[in-house]
Amino acid sequence: MNLYLATKNQGKVREINSLFTGTGIVFSSAAVIMGKVVEDGDTYHKNAFAKAMAVYEKMPDPVVAEDSGLEVDALEGAPGVYSARFAAQSDDDNATDEENINELLDFMQDVPKEMRTAKYVSVFCLIMGGTTMFFDGEVTGSIIDTPRGTSGFGYDPVFIPNGYDKTFAELGDDVKNKISHRAMAARKLRDYLLTIKSATNT
Ligand code: IMP
Repeated sequence: MNLYLATKNQGKVREINSLFTGTGIVFSSAAVIMGKVVEDGDTYHKNAFAKAMAVYEKMPDPVVAEDSGLEVDALEGAPGVYSARFAAQSDDDNATDEENINELLDFMQDVPKEMRTAKYVSVFCLIMGGTTMFFDGEVTGSIIDTPRGTSGFGYDPVFIPNGYDKTFAELGDDVKNKISHRAMAARKLRDYLLTIKSATNT
């Protein structure tokens, strides 16, 4: 079964493809088809839908998009849907991972350890045969004050998932792909696609 994946984020492409390894479900990057998408929705659902629809309206084949973010309790849920552009100079730009981490740590410099709780949220949007469906997942943890590790992307060097004492960037892809927000949401999407796949023999 082949689907388009509407994202330009190479970290996500890598993670999502490895989450579907061995399922017979293959994603082709639709980065070129989707063009520029303004992600100005105030929910992950709206932004994931906008990305998937940007591809579907040009090429009406099954397409998946994902929107995600980091929600920090001490910052009342920020950066949330603005995670990719937290440190950006304008609404049109994304910032680098390093700039975003520095911005986050600046905002949190006076937040004590026990109040540094946070969660990652992931929402997949599937558009298939004119029907839209969403699949979500989250992972809770906390934000440390100095980046550690080199794996993953985004805020991974400062996020420690609950039950661990290492950041996602130290734990590496094998652990992250079992417990992450994206893994949770992808598992729901995978289960749904596998039922369709066996019903249609694709
Ligand atoms: P978007 O979904 O492309 O709008 O971007 C989501 C942003 O949230 C990323 O650019 C990261 O800054 C952050 N983010 C989402 N998921 C992760 C993750 O698994 N690790 C680290 N950062 C993430």
